[in-house]
Amino acid sequence: MPRPVAIAPSVLPADFSHLGDECVALEAAGVDRIQWDVMDGVFVPNLTFGPDVIASIRPLVEVEFEAHLMVVEPDRLLDRYVEAGCGIVIVHAEACTHLHRTLAHIADVGAIAGVALNPHTPADVISHVRDLLGIVLVMTVSPGFGGQAYIHAMEPKIAEVAALLDGYDCDIEVDGGIGPDTVAGAAAAGANVLVSGSALFRDPDGLEHAVADLRRRAEAARA
Ligand code: DX5
Repeated sequence: MPRPVAIAPSVLPADFSHLGDECVALEAAGVDRIQWDVMDGVFVPNLTFGPDVIASIRPLVEVEFEAHLMVVEPDRLLDRYVEAGCGIVIVHAEACTHLHRTLAHIADVGAIAGVALNPHTPADVISHVRDLLGIVLVMTVSPGFGGQAYIHAMEPKIAEVAALLDGYDCDIEVDGGIGPDTVAGAAAAGANVLVSGSALFRDPDGLEHAVADLRRRAEAARA
């Protein structure tokens, strides 16, 4: 049974001076969850949202929050993002000395555990932690900034992750350069959760059209 398609906007391109309104608009546009790109300026050369920012937005919408922790030593921080209202926490395999322990920690504090793989990281990194995973995020750009070009060469890796997850209750998520022209390739390769920032916020026909169009294209590619 194919896993349902989910659209998870990144708020990185949002208007930060009206972040609450932007999240309300995303929920109204029919997104399935909102991804917070958390960056510490060390793991990636950018700095973004602390837990207090997310906590301030939490009461404004019902939709699930996902913390994509692009940070070193995520164990230090992840409890605070769960307390701030994130029901999903994704850590980078490259940032975890003890990935098995970190994923168990996420579950222990009541969140769904995910691991993100940078473009250079082999799919088989997940082989011995599959039972702890609710999400594998295959990065289709090098993390740190929105608006980058989709790396088509990641599609065989998405398929490899899908094969490794056969029989496991785990979503396959992609993030980076996902838009109308790239979503079908990622979905056909096996992705069912699509993170999109620039393409959604840039759509001249508005967020609702962008979300519905991305969902339609992904579902058609997975049919
Ligand atoms: C990379 C970021 C971006 C962002 C979405 O560190 O995680 O991938 O979410 O970027 P675009 O604008 O390419 O959809």
